[in-house]
Amino acid sequence: MRTQVVIVGGGPSGLLLGQHLTKAGIDNVILERQNKEYVLGRIRAGVLEIGTVNQLRDLGLGARMAAEGYVHNGTVISYNDEQIRVDFAKHTESTVMVYGQTEVTKDLYDARDADGTQTIYEVDDVEICDAKTNAPFVIFSQGGRSYRIACDFIAGCDGFHGVSRQAIPIKARTEFEKVYPFGWLGILSETPPVHHELIYANSDAGFALCSMRNAGLSRYYVQCDASDDPARWSDQAFWDELRRRIPEEFADIIETGPFIEKSIAPLRSFVCEPMQWGRLFLCGDAAHIVPPTGAKGLNTAASDVYYLAGALIQHYVHADPQAVAEYSERALARVWKAERFSWWMTKLLHHFPNQTDFDSRMQQAEIAFLRTNDAAQAVLAQNYVGLPY
Ligand code: APR
Ligand code: PHB
Repeated sequence: MRTQVVIVGGGPSGLLLGQHLTKAGIDNVILERQNKEYVLGRIRAGVLEIGTVNQLRDLGLGARMAAEGYVHNGTVISYNDEQIRVDFAKHTESTVMVYGQTEVTKDLYDARDADGTQTIYEVDDVEICDAKTNAPFVIFSQGGRSYRIACDFIAGCDGFHGVSRQAIPIKARTEFEKVYPFGWLGILSETPPVHHELIYANSDAGFALCSMRNAGLSRYYVQCDASDDPARWSDQAFWDELRRRIPEEFADIIETGPFIEKSIAPLRSFVCEPMQWGRLFLCGDAAHIVPPTGAKGLNTAASDVYYLAGALIQHYVHADPQAVAEYSERALARVWKAERFSWWMTKLLHHFPNQTDFDSRMQQAEIAFLRTNDAAQAVLAQNYVGLPY
């Protein structure tokens, strides 16, 4: 079998890249380890930057998002009972879209199926071969048989635990990592959101986030120990803890109900440099991870895809190899800024286990500065809606 681009991984990165390529007439095949139902069952963040929204619209995938998504003009940051509303529209003339990653992934799969572009599910033993030559290929197994696909390029979109990054020899890559000493316990509940905008709350008891999926579905998080067991948290214990951490005016009115999902996610910052090796390119979580504070994971994956799709189109349609050669440099320049913002939001809003009184005062001073300083709010707003591509 032969194709132009093999995409390893059918998460948001691989699917979005596939759509760009198919639309430009570039043949591609996605290899996905799981089945589609499994991929669509994963619950992830739900805030899309304007650049992500525009990509989906340009690919003809804007209709359901426009009908079912929620445009947010701002967000609330709180410290105990003190609240700051950061107005995105005022500081950036832009907004974000609240539309779950699960919905984005579903729209991308529907479009791929409608186009008839090939996706091979439940693959195993994927190996990336000869990426440093002009004739790379990928081997894999499925249902007990082995296959080989020859190609021009390979896109490693297989997430943090995938095989693509490992295909770059250890001596040829540098990895930067920071693991945070806490996790997020997240729940979904079929209750109306407590507020029409997101609330990022720091408090003496730790961080909490009030988010949403739609008018009848809320997503809430509380900071917890990274080693904590979700089973240890009863519904009541979660709601009590959330109420303790958010401003009283919201704690008083929050509607509680049974959970339909409950899980703990660790918090990590991670970047692999470079993001390309010969004809292998890394996109999304395969190359970098951010802590979820600020919702940059999916959006940074989307900006990688934007650069890579553009570079491959330059190569195939305009016979110009320059952009392909510069992919890693361009992607990393934006990735590091998203890393900085996510790290900063995390540092500002969480209670660290060994936090001193001095550290707490620094957080309070930063919050006070943000509350009174328009430029500080503008910086937050610009980063939150997404830096330009
Ligand atoms: N072979 C084939 N597929 C693989 C392999 C493999 N060896 N390893 C992993 N995969 C698949 C996974 O099953 C998953 O569907 O690759 C996909 C990677 O998807 P994500 O982990 O979602 O990563 P990405 O597409 O880069 O998405 C980035 O979305 O999932 C969030 O937290 C993530 O917000 C981030 C963004
Ligand atoms: C979510 O809705 O799941 C969400 C929103 C914003 C974040 C992280 C997660 O920063």
